[in-house]
Amino acid sequence: SFPTHVRLVEVGPRDGLQNEPDPIATSTKLELIDRLGAAGIRYIEAASFVSPKWVPQMADHREVMQNLARLDDVVYSALTPNLKGLEAALECGVEEVAVFGAASEAFSQKNINCSVAESLERFAPVLERAKQANVRVRGYVSCVLGCPYEGEIAPAKVAEVSKALYEMGCYEVSLGDTIGTGTPLAAKRMLEAVAREVPMAQLAAHFHDTYGQALANLYAVLEEGIAVVDSSVAGLGGCPYAKGASGNVASEDVVYLLNGLGIETGIDLEALAATGTWITQTIKRPNRSKVGVALAAK
Ligand code: HMG
Ligand code: MG
Repeated sequence: SFPTHVRLVEVGPRDGLQNEPDPIATSTKLELIDRLGAAGIRYIEAASFVSPKWVPQMADHREVMQNLARLDDVVYSALTPNLKGLEAALECGVEEVAVFGAASEAFSQKNINCSVAESLERFAPVLERAKQANVRVRGYVSCVLGCPYEGEIAPAKVAEVSKALYEMGCYEVSLGDTIGTGTPLAAKRMLEAVAREVPMAQLAAHFHDTYGQALANLYAVLEEGIAVVDSSVAGLGGCPYAKGASGNVASEDVVYLLNGLGIETGIDLEALAATGTWITQTIKRPNRSKVGVALAAK
């Protein structure tokens, strides 16, 4: 059955911007994060401590994390694929981080330059060090509903990697449909396999909208009990190692859907939509939130 409350994880400042080819001013990123907090978002993935050679747009991760106008009840997290990233994030006062693995060998190689097994070996010391520092760690699994290089991915493989991350100490595992090829039944079957290994309350849905299925897929997994949803304001984004991938499901569209279902989020939809209008105008990108476009035209 549906949850009564959903926590939105806003990944726009990270997943939404990481693929932008032209440099975006740090001040624009900070203003985006401020506006998202003011709209009632309580969890914002603000930066990514990855190699600037691999993802140049996230090269200002330190400046972003150090200059946040932090709100007390908002969590500002960052991606940290290895100890080097974690140490830098800790120096910047990060309170929560995320490691990211994949259910596909080929994607793991392209994205983080190692096999799935090697990635888990690299994450273990990250989790250990984070625990010492009292920093919670979220885990991502990419390619849960398909891989740009391998095609179909078995639900059992997704369950195996999710279980490994959970047992390692990730408090939540976010299931990424990186290339947005999933459909509702496939999403349900995948989730059923994962939920046999990791409690439903510790799972999140991270769906990209490349094939226009993200909202339908979300509806399917909400019905199964998923209560944490990753999304990106204005549907910003794409993945540098997944050609043709479009952004995450738009946060505005998710909030509108949840409002209609009577599921609470604590988010001010008008303020969120205004943020989507502002950021897309500022970085000169189309607004990929249908709800955002409709509300702006009112
Ligand atoms: P590597 O080349 O295997 O690592 O990269 P290395 O340890 O051999 O280091 C190579 C160079 O990178 C060295 O610098 C290191 O210092 C540097 P050099 O000596 O050549 O000057 N380096 C770093 N610099 C800054 N921060 C670090 C760091 N680590 C090493 N943390 C690595 C391995 C993971 C670092 C690399 O492959 C990388 O940065 N990949 C980027 C991956 C990425 O950001 N992908 C996008 C995010 S994931 C995603 O979008 C999916 C998700 O949204 C879910 C979904 O939708 O499915 C989460
Ligand atoms: Mg993503």
